[in-house]
Amino acid sequence: MRPGTATGRFATLSPMSDVEPAALAAFAAELARDAGREIRARVPATRHIETKASAVDLVTDTDRRVDALISKRIAAAFPHHARLTEESGATATPDASVCWVVDPLDGTVNFAHGVPHFAVSIAAVCGFRPGDPLAGRPGTDLLAGVVYDPMRDELFEATVDGPTRCNGEEITTSNCPSPNEALVATGFPYDRRERADEYLEDWRRLLPRCRDLRRAGAAALDLAYVAAGRFDAYFERGLHPWDIAAGVLLVRRAGGVATDLGGRDLFLDAREVLTAPRSLHSSIRALLSSA
Ligand code: IPD
Ligand code: CA
Ligand code: CA
Repeated sequence: MRPGTATGRFATLSPMSDVEPAALAAFAAELARDAGREIRARVPATRHIETKASAVDLVTDTDRRVDALISKRIAAAFPHHARLTEESGATATPDASVCWVVDPLDGTVNFAHGVPHFAVSIAAVCGFRPGDPLAGRPGTDLLAGVVYDPMRDELFEATVDGPTRCNGEEITTSNCPSPNEALVATGFPYDRRERADEYLEDWRRLLPRCRDLRRAGAAALDLAYVAAGRFDAYFERGLHPWDIAAGVLLVRRAGGVATDLGGRDLFLDAREVLTAPRSLHSSIRALLSSA
């Protein structure tokens, strides 16, 4: 049995799914590559920035355009499935067997500043009903997940019943034994101006104990890099389901653990995540301020 096969939430294939996970993943991979091509063609030569909820929460016309492209393609291929996308919200499809959870452009700040580190994230989830107060609770299965980096042409993909792959090659998390040897990634939520002290407390605790910290700016790639063993661990507060749905499956199927910051089972709507190999997870959790 592969590591992580029967542990944690989202681990068991539900009979509610009407399409094979491999077929969902193949569809998502093709769609992510097409979306990535659109994004790559629109990398801004100069900054083109619109703000959303606050001065640090950005959206560009590329986010919206690619969201529309992905939504349209999913609706055409799977009209009976639900969708939750960052720029379009949730469809009202209460009886859908599968919900597609999509971040059309993860790493918008990087994109808008011309930093070539952003991705498309697409997941197919069973038993997840956006807007339901119980969304993401037990019974939710991550069936397939794809994260595509259009600038490096790297496609990370996993299904509930297969290994995680990067451009077709099987990948696994590191087996880093201690924070002392760990490269740890994180991000700062969009309320960072109001809660800076709280977020900096994590850095204050980790900085003297880890090999180094990274804030690369794309949660989906942070998770994909943990799955590939490039980053040893990743944690962040203030996340949304579309930031983590695909990436959490990548990490789990690569042998890693994904929980909330307290080490509890992870819900898609938990708004936070801590991922690491089993060998490292509890020691990073113990260092974090919320532990
Ligand atoms: C953001 C990025 C960033 C993370 C934020 C996310 P967006 O997503 O993943 O790294 O720190 O929490 O919201 O807005 O670029 O799709
Ligand atoms: Ca995002
Ligand atoms: Ca986004």
